Amino acid sequence: MHVLVTGAAGFIGQALVQALLQRNDVARVIATDQVACPLQSPKLDIRIGDLSDPAVAHALIDTQTATVFHLASLVSGGAEANHVQGMRINFDATRVLLDAARAAGHCPHFLFASSIAVYRADDSGAKLFVTDATVPAPRLSYGAQKLMCEILINDLTRRGVVHGVSLRLPTVMVRAGLANTAISGWTSAIVREAVAGRDYVCPVAPYTTMACISVGRVVDAFLHAWSLPPASLGIDRAYVLEGLPATAQEIRAAVERVAHGHVLGGLRFEPDAQMQSVMDQVAQSTVSVRARRLGFPCNPDLDDIVREYLSIVTP
Ligand SMILES: NC(=O)c1ccc[n+]([C@@H]2O[C@H](COP(=O)([O-])OP(=O)(O)OC[C@H]3O[C@@H](n4cnc5c(N)ncnc54)[C@H](O)[C@@H]3O)[C@@H](O)[C@H]2O)c1
Repeated sequence: MHVLVTGAAGFIGQALVQALLQRNDVARVIATDQVACPLQSPKLDIRIGDLSDPAVAHALIDTQTATVFHLASLVSGGAEANHVQGMRINFDATRVLLDAARAAGHCPHFLFASSIAVYRADDSGAKLFVTDATVPAPRLSYGAQKLMCEILINDLTRRGVVHGVSLRLPTVMVRAGLANTAISGWTSAIVREAVAGRDYVCPVAPYTTMACISVGRVVDAFLHAWSLPPASLGIDRAYVLEGLPATAQEIRAAVERVAHGHVLGGLRFEPDAQMQSVMDQVAQSTVSVRARRLGFPCNPDLDDIVREYLSIVTP
């Protein structure tokens, strides 16, 4: 069985590739990104290329491709700053990959990393608590691009071109390396910088809340979605994963509880008005009976997310 992972050099991509390489039922993982995925294994086939080039994207899928995990993306802030490039990688590349799946003709699994950026609060100032009944209404182009991909994947699933699933990911923690263009990067930075003993200036106020999940649970969720019988997934293949509501202050408190014994860096808050106004409209929490019924995993509490990170960086 050959499995393709796009965005394989990224934060979630690397964690997913690692998990796939450990499975006996996966013979080969094609790991593609614009930079090299730094992992090594005889089962790993690393391809470097720009997925926004249709020829590159089309060549990645053939009749041997049993499953595509499509994670490559120009994330929130980046896609807002550069709409043309955002459309190319976040929407056009998805369409080309789906066309390649159609040409291959064997209806591969197509698992897509969507985002809770498909939701936004209205302008009343009321907080947004996402449930299965919340109607998607993106505030950023990134969310609009993700939503367009979900609709396309649903339609091509109906047409028998792919077995598609889109997972709307809450904010995924804890990014160990350098930040990408995600506007939610402060959530990870509060943990990462403290544990590394560095001071951090947080660009949002202490009360600012995001729905959070750990990278380990996200990888579990992708593997779980892959294992589910297509018939159990229903007509709407977009599932929102459950994210814990966490304020900046609560994330810091969890670090102080769990990382005792570490010399922690300090935390100072210097909210940026523009960033704060975006953050005040994002989902505070996500609760999904649909996802729960199908057994999608989530974290029991914030301490669990911090503990998972510590187990990775301090083996
Ligand atoms: N991390 C989160 O909090 C979060 C939340 C919601 C959704 N998601 C989604 O999950 C997926 C993975 O996110 P991540 O946090 O690992 O992001 P990331 O930025 O770490 O990884 C994305 C990868 O895509 C690659 N990429 C971007 N443009 C490319 C191009 N033109 N050609 C080839 N590769 C390209 C990048 O090089 C990068 O390695 C993305 O689709 C993202 O939208 C992430």
